[in-house]
Amino acid sequence: ENPTRPSIHPTVESIRSARKSYGPSVSVGFVPTMGALHEGHLSLFRAARSENDVVVASIFVNPTQFGEGEDLEKYPRQLEKDVDLLASIGVDHVFAPSSDTMYGKNHVTYLEPTGFDKTREGIARPNHFRGVATVVAKLFNIVQPTNAYFGQKDAVQCVLIRRIVDDLNMNINVRILDTVRERDGLAMSSRNAYLMAEQRDKAPIVYKALCAAREVFESRFARGMEEVDAAALQEVVENILRTEPLISEVQYVAVDDLETMQPLEKVGSGGCIVSLACILGTVRLIDNIVLS
Ligand code: PAJ
Repeated sequence: ENPTRPSIHPTVESIRSARKSYGPSVSVGFVPTMGALHEGHLSLFRAARSENDVVVASIFVNPTQFGEGEDLEKYPRQLEKDVDLLASIGVDHVFAPSSDTMYGKNHVTYLEPTGFDKTREGIARPNHFRGVATVVAKLFNIVQPTNAYFGQKDAVQCVLIRRIVDDLNMNINVRILDTVRERDGLAMSSRNAYLMAEQRDKAPIVYKALCAAREVFESRFARGMEEVDAAALQEVVENILRTEPLISEVQYVAVDDLETMQPLEKVGSGGCIVSLACILGTVRLIDNIVLS
């Protein structure tokens, strides 16, 4: 047997007994994912590998975070290829449960993160954050990690995970890592695989629009202004997105507080996060940039 190959655990009992076999003094780094792994995910695994004794991945396309008409059925599933990638990084364990394993027929308990359905991403995806909160709490209980790794790409999700750990007094250290991008600026995403060639060519405009907001923000502060109207930042981003005919809808461009993801009217020296969701062809793209 190849010792660098991760062990695959389809059941809760199996990953639990692996977890137990390490003493309490062993640090466990955990990266929850839905699979179809790319460099964005792999950056989280590399950080986990360098910061922990043991690294655990989960691969689970969580049905409760998908809404009606979203891509649950067609979400890319490629377990073998994913495990090869994880092997190359030296991940030790992969928890890959079925939906029935995670949600038994009598399952009724959900985590309701108050207010997250009112964030711009939450409004666009009803019940999404309830599903994320529930599955991440379940995964944390199963894996019992020391450190858990998330990507800034999903900005509201990061704030949510910090809230869960804090609100429910979980003894877990949350690590947030920067968004990994393609060379042309497009944020890596499993959903980029849905983009047709022509759409893929145009997709970098999303990040260009966010960078234009950063330029406005920085130039105003450079001219000695103490705050910037959120509306001015939103307008720059929207105007750029509107120049691309393949973008059929801009769902939102939001300027929010970094810690709470609540909307700001004026952005001061504390900075903000500018985030957006748009439909390019038939693919929903999200991205964000932190201004500070
Ligand atoms: P998934 O979309 O597979 O993403 C898993 C992790 O990878 C998340 O923390 C996400 O923010 C991070 N990630 C995705 N693209 C990234 C990029 N380009 N750069 C850096 N990090 C990136 O997010 C989920 O799964 C699910 O909601 C999950 C937390 C697993 C719960 O089901």
